[in-house]
Amino acid sequence: MTLPSRWPAVLQAVMKGQPRALADSHYPQWHLAPVTGLMNDPNGFIFFAGRYHLFYQWNPLGCDHRYKCWGHWRSDDLVHWHHEPLALMPDEEYDRNGCYSGSAVDNRGVLTLCYTGNVKFDDGSRTAWQCLAEEQEDGSFKKCGPVLALPEGYTGHVRDPKVWQHEGMWYMVLGAQDWQQRGKVLLFRSEDLHSWQPCGEIAGQGLNGLEDAGYMWECPDLFALDGTHVLICCPQGLAREPHRYLNTYPAAWMSGAFDYERATFEHGALRELDAGFEFYAPQTALAEDGRRILIGWMGVPDGEEMLQPTRAQGWIHQMTCPRELRYRDGRLWQTPVRELQRLREAERQWQGYASDAPILDAARLEFELIAPCVTVDFAGALRLIVEKNGVRLERASLQTGETLTRYWLGDVRHLRVLCDRSSVEIFINEGEGVMSSRYFPDAPAQIRFEGASNITLRYWSLRSCMIE
Ligand code: FRU
Repeated sequence: MTLPSRWPAVLQAVMKGQPRALADSHYPQWHLAPVTGLMNDPNGFIFFAGRYHLFYQWNPLGCDHRYKCWGHWRSDDLVHWHHEPLALMPDEEYDRNGCYSGSAVDNRGVLTLCYTGNVKFDDGSRTAWQCLAEEQEDGSFKKCGPVLALPEGYTGHVRDPKVWQHEGMWYMVLGAQDWQQRGKVLLFRSEDLHSWQPCGEIAGQGLNGLEDAGYMWECPDLFALDGTHVLICCPQGLAREPHRYLNTYPAAWMSGAFDYERATFEHGALRELDAGFEFYAPQTALAEDGRRILIGWMGVPDGEEMLQPTRAQGWIHQMTCPRELRYRDGRLWQTPVRELQRLREAERQWQGYASDAPILDAARLEFELIAPCVTVDFAGALRLIVEKNGVRLERASLQTGETLTRYWLGDVRHLRVLCDRSSVEIFINEGEGVMSSRYFPDAPAQIRFEGASNITLRYWSLRSCMIE
């Protein structure tokens, strides 16, 4: 792949085309999305010097997975976001095929990005460098070059450094594939972010009794939460099961005991993090008050993504809303951050037979629903079916037209659903389960409730809050 020469000039030309996305009836009203091109993973999520920063994988030049840069947004409150100048672009030999995913740290007051420099060769092979970049006074980022080469025993698929500090020492987890094509998470340690010592594999296929766990693990994130340690990861090639891991690429988590001294992680079973159609590559950050906040990419890089209609308007994909994580009763709970309640307008309530319920406008809406059985139809493009033993989500395949189904199994007591113009996030039982999905209605999207059960509804329309 040849580098676009004169990156800044290219970008300027590209940004001129941006209003097309903003005029699209599918462009989110309160979620983060690219103004042009393709956005994927959240990167460098951090609360730094009084503000939240979220970077993201971004191809500003088109709606495909090339030319990966780091875009940059900033927020005071996790609700209102502002554009910042592009942070990284693939303009060096060591990142020439993409500034791939990574994280951000506060290195003695300097906002420092840790990312993967992806390099592909003509024979189809690749290598990866873990690299640093530091924020300058003018807000731009100066690359410091690679700090870690490909470790021995792994293919060129080693990437997505998540770095954090613990008792004066820096730690990094990396997603990896070993020479036997097994997905792994590697741990490294450093005193200064520049020189890294390997501490071995802490999780992956073949470790801790995990079999059939995939050929490559991407985007690991390891953190302490409510008395345990949680590892989030994206195991590619995980065996499909009848009711879970149904997306081409799933996101998963496990909890256990992480030992810094021995560099070991004894963990329990792998579990699905989100049961919807679109959820991948999440990343967490610590909020000012110690909450663990997660943002995910509402997309999966499979055959369907290139058929999404927003491509014709020059943009594709969006982020999830920020969610607070808690660990309780052996489960990971996710709830929308409380700051999002600021978007609510007047509250309305309704009770009665589902089929008599008001038709709601799905463009900017939050609703809470208590119902033993009900079907919620989103403009004929997505159906949420609540039954005694779980929730089903149905959508027609963009490729074949056949109905695809995703499942969350369990006793459903309460649903909270956050809607934007082309997405829904369904929080089951105050966050015990989550299903995130895109859908592409003919605007304006209407929500209808169907069925003979009695339902109780509370709902709010949400204020528009587009990126400025
Ligand atoms: C996950 C991922 C990462 C990689 C990035 C490239 O979606 O494949 O592993 O760093 O996307 O855009």
